Amino acid sequence: MIKIATYSETVMDHFMNPRNVGEIEDADGIGEVGNPVCGDMMTFYVKVDDEDRLNDVKFKTFGCGAAIAVSSMVSEMAKGKTLDEAMQIGRKDVADQLGGLPDNKMHCSNLGADALHKAIEDYRNKKKES
Ligand code: FES
Repeated sequence: MIKIATYSETVMDHFMNPRNVGEIEDADGIGEVGNPVCGDMMTFYVKVDDEDRLNDVKFKTFGCGAAIAVSSMVSEMAKGKTLDEAMQIGRKDVADQLGGLPDNKMHCSNLGADALHKAIEDYRNKKKES
């Protein structure tokens, strides 16, 4: 029997009306991740204020519906957080906030947290160099 994955209303909302889509031209940090199996790509852009807080987060995602919903949710969860707090956002937190994801879509939630963390690491590396 074929099992059809169902999405929560929250996933559908973030997929149909994704928040914070786009690019920050003068981003302080950029993080890009891809999944070689499905070929989906996600890029996160962050802007950091003087108190090490994320005052803007945007993303561009080329991927499945779950990946778009995940990116949107991660951007909402990260905005206004300190860098340390944002680094604590885990894959499971994202899936939980979305009301769960089907098992075969859990890898999509990994991409979101990973891309955000990479963007923060990029910012931290640039800061060390300057
Ligand atoms: Fe790969 Fe969703 S199917 S990120």
